[in-house]
Amino acid sequence: METMLKRTDYCGTLRLADDQRQVALYGWVARNRDHGGIIFIDLRDREGIVQIVIDPESCDEAAFAAAEALRSEHVVYVEGTVRPRSAETVNEKMATGEIEVVASRVVSLNKSKTPPFFIEDGVNVDEKMRLKYRYLDLRRPEMQAALKLRHKVTIAMRHFLDSEGFMEIETPMLCKSSPEGARDYLVPSRVHPGEFFALPQSPQLFKQILMVAGMDKYFQIARCFRDEDLRADRQPEFTQLDMEMSFVKEEEVRDLTERLIKYVFKEALGRDIPTPFPQLTYKEAIDRYGSDKPDLRFGMEIVDIADICMNSEFTTFASVAQQGGWVRGINAKGARFSRRTMDDLKDYVAIYGAKGLAYIIIEEDGLKSPIAKFFTEEQLNEICTRFGAEPGDVLMFVAAEPQITADSLGHLRCECARRLNLIDPDEMNLLWVVDFPMFEYDQDEQRWTAVHHPFTAPKDEDIPLLATKPGECRAKAYDVILNGCELGGGSIRIHQRDVQEQMFALLNISPEQSVDKFGYLLDAFEYGTPPHGGLAIGLDRMIMLMGGKDSIRDVIAFPKTQSATDMMTNAPSEVELKQLRELHIRINTPAQQ
Ligand code: AMO
Ligand code: AMP
Repeated sequence: METMLKRTDYCGTLRLADDQRQVALYGWVARNRDHGGIIFIDLRDREGIVQIVIDPESCDEAAFAAAEALRSEHVVYVEGTVRPRSAETVNEKMATGEIEVVASRVVSLNKSKTPPFFIEDGVNVDEKMRLKYRYLDLRRPEMQAALKLRHKVTIAMRHFLDSEGFMEIETPMLCKSSPEGARDYLVPSRVHPGEFFALPQSPQLFKQILMVAGMDKYFQIARCFRDEDLRADRQPEFTQLDMEMSFVKEEEVRDLTERLIKYVFKEALGRDIPTPFPQLTYKEAIDRYGSDKPDLRFGMEIVDIADICMNSEFTTFASVAQQGGWVRGINAKGARFSRRTMDDLKDYVAIYGAKGLAYIIIEEDGLKSPIAKFFTEEQLNEICTRFGAEPGDVLMFVAAEPQITADSLGHLRCECARRLNLIDPDEMNLLWVVDFPMFEYDQDEQRWTAVHHPFTAPKDEDIPLLATKPGECRAKAYDVILNGCELGGGSIRIHQRDVQEQMFALLNISPEQSVDKFGYLLDAFEYGTPPHGGLAIGLDRMIMLMGGKDSIRDVIAFPKTQSATDMMTNAPSEVELKQLRELHIRINTPAQQ
């Protein structure tokens, strides 16, 4: 290395303005071509690719020989001079396409095996392969861009929150297991046989205790762990921008969050996000969009027709309406769906529990529908008027218990928008969903569960409902939604021991259990707890949406697969018997018995 100069530039940053500069570059061979005695190398580093020309006229024999031996992904040192490309060789697709570097020295620093896939954008390889060779996958420009965006976003968040007087404080990774929420990841204690730590699902209780400790404004870019079913936007290990403030109302937390999001979009993407964000109550969101995270980039609102169906001859719909179920529909404007598409959509809503998907296709010369015969002319007119139906439109209906109808139509709306290309991929649509209910009833377990979490405060005016009609009690809870994805959520917290105990009782957490699991919080609440509240943003989801990706795995350096494994390290894996003995653990799987 002694004879090599310190790097002068990143490959990807060279431009016409660097004409005639002597440069020293280090990078990987993206491509090599031998053009009858002149060798061209595309040299890649973190910032991009530049073309190197190795011409025997401009370099010594050793350099030429070194260049001849180069293959994809070999690591190279190049010294040379920047020069403009001739007009016919300018490559407008490359940021460095107007120049090339004529090498005077080429030193091979390391070889590489032939990579299992091309290191370039848009590769069509199995994701498992990409995850196994993540170090190669991460060399691809789009992955580098995603991690750069992530870095910019977290720096902007820290900067903004610091300027707002927030303190970044770390909370423990080895925590106490708690019964609410998702399943915990457990860590056995060697020192205390038979006892376990849990990895935090979020820093929720620690941040509340930091408020009791008088920290006033806290944030943390916090790693969270949840052993739950994974999806494109869910990882077992993910990151939150976690925040908490004392002496604030709901509006103040939302205002701070809006300003933070606005700042981050401006800093990281140069985009202006209008504030304040629109707000929908939970009830409006479910009524109009069938979802508590509605995508408002398109319309297609849900319309209620239960009253019309109540007295119709279509007994399926009439009986659902009479029993207080929901008979509702959407209008896919101008969709002119085929019979086959209607069959697909029927299968699609079945995933969400709908027993069928009735439809009316409006044609220039009348209605095409398997259910029209059950309705009078007047009823059909009323239905069409309610949907503003015009020729070409497709009205689709679901009749079921409210949750199934909402869920089915909520998803169907999005599916139709995708099929009809109604979504502008560049739009960033932000909104708040507020006034969430405190509880939902878990039919399987026959008990109330917290919609947000058990530390969320009820609306002051709804506190009496806790004892009488918990199902109607609203929470001081809010979610921020971006393009139909839950970006973040938070609430004002309970700060009095008695209200917190009442909550636990409602959630069927016995006094003994609550002292055992949350005693430290209840104790802390007796030492002057300030009113407080906060919010956590899913950082991975935010970067995914900002970067236009479909999966959070594409914005996490080392993500897990859908089945919660790490393809590169092969974790989780078996451990040695000795380690298990030290932890006082005996494995009891069928395979080992
Ligand atoms: P919540 O559970 O709603 O709230 O989480 C906050 C945000 O974190 C993101 N998120 C996830 N991202 C990736 N993978 C997951 N498995 C995952 N789970 C959640 C979502 C979500 O909106 N302590 C409270 C916050 C508070 O009340 O202040 C909490 O954790 O974007
Ligand atoms: P059927 O009378 O069961 O043949 O249904 C007639 C039409 O109504 C079919 O297109 C079904 O898909 C639809 N349908 C049946 N049950 C429901 C339901 N619960 N919700 C919506 N559509 C339904």
